[in-house]
Amino acid sequence: MSNLKIHHIGYLVKKLDQAKQTFEALGYRIEQDTVYDDIRKVNICFLVKDGYRIELVSPVSPDSVVAGLLKKYKNAPYHICYETGNYEEDLSRLTASGFLAIDTPTPAPAMNGRRVMFLTSAVAGMIELIVD
Ligand code: NI
Repeated sequence: MSNLKIHHIGYLVKKLDQAKQTFEALGYRIEQDTVYDDIRKVNICFLVKDGYRIELVSPVSPDSVVAGLLKKYKNAPYHICYETGNYEEDLSRLTASGFLAIDTPTPAPAMNGRRVMFLTSAVAGMIELIVD
């Protein structure tokens, strides 16, 4: 049984400040203003609307982990992040369902240092798991 609960939708943007303004025009409010993630070399801003949380992610350097994804996807959602009530159990179920870990649990500066990891599935794309 799944213990997963949606935490946010990760959304790539090229121009963070302009994207923030545009999302505000759509009715989102800034939940947490820009934080620099020095591990992934991205700026991150959390927005909320109607109970949904969106994470704007913008690379600040060509060697950022998401620089290649931004080129491929342009401005677009690219992962759903889940909280897990039972990390070991969820990870083994996801792995059995075809998800492959693409990194190991690493602190996320924009999420108070909570550790996160990313996985991909050939049929469901990329997800993020909060490991705690
Ligand atoms: Ni995320």
